[in-house]
Amino acid sequence: MKPTVLLTHPLPPDWIASLEGQVTLIIGQEETPGWRDNLLQALPQAEGILSLLTARVDEAILEKASRLRIVSNMAVGVDNIDVKACTRRGIPVGNTPGAMTDATADLAMSLLLAAARRLPESSRDAREGRWQTWSPTGWLGADLRGATLGIIGLGKIGRAVAERARGFGLRVRYWQPHQSPEGEAGGAEYVPFEALLSSSDFVTLHCPLNESTRGLIDESALRKMKPSAILVNAARGPVVDTSALTRALSENWIASAALDVTDPEPLPPSHPLFSLPNCFIVPHIGSATHGARKRMAEMACENLLAGLRGERLPNCVNPEIYKP
Ligand code: GLV
Repeated sequence: MKPTVLLTHPLPPDWIASLEGQVTLIIGQEETPGWRDNLLQALPQAEGILSLLTARVDEAILEKASRLRIVSNMAVGVDNIDVKACTRRGIPVGNTPGAMTDATADLAMSLLLAAARRLPESSRDAREGRWQTWSPTGWLGADLRGATLGIIGLGKIGRAVAERARGFGLRVRYWQPHQSPEGEAGGAEYVPFEALLSSSDFVTLHCPLNESTRGLIDESALRKMKPSAILVNAARGPVVDTSALTRALSENWIASAALDVTDPEPLPPSHPLFSLPNCFIVPHIGSATHGARKRMAEMACENLLAGLRGERLPNCVNPEIYKP
């Protein structure tokens, strides 16, 4: 008997080729990734879950899945999963670190550059007939060389952003709860949180979403930033307090924001952030390259199959379950 695996959203067959012949797949529907009826009904038979970051795997789901042996998330972030509840049940949780490091760092730099040079606004002006002449003072943006980039969260992605930023002549500082010897060897300077906010021309977020980072960029943090500062978020939406950011941008506490992630997600098109000229939003595309997404799916399958075989996952976020 092949084990039953719930896949919360269809994926291209060549991304999940390693599952062929190994598992019975029950697949969620295309339009709304998450817990569709067919998946909910199959939970009691499920031995594995291959989830996207849009599917919450919480107590309510786990309670129905009494045969579950592995939760494999096709993402590096696991904030959609109640990892503690999985750990209590001895269920390993897999993620996909490394697969999207370069893609996400490239996207963060794209956001930073686009906001610094006001690409969304100037492109709109060109298209809508406001490009009358070459204006010496039109669409002036921020200089990068010599400016300070503050990175919050100097993990793999943060370090990849630091590496790119140095190529643009940015001075790189960082903050996270623990100093990073690897990051410092790469030239990033550790500074306290408040100092990072008040001294950075650009602040970019690369921390995981957890209890200590939820709402980290709140009104008080935004008020500490320079009025000329640009905020980039390619981490998770709830790291930033959306209503505080909306006020900060409308009242010019900071210059602009470029967001790959929002809270809620998706952000409704009627949300005030979309009508602010100094806010630029893309739909959570940090890892959206052909190579990164395929590798993420392959890694998620590797974790899934290892879990089903009762082996240690190649990438496990709760390895404490293996301790005797
Ligand atoms: C994407 O956002 C991820 O966590 O992999």
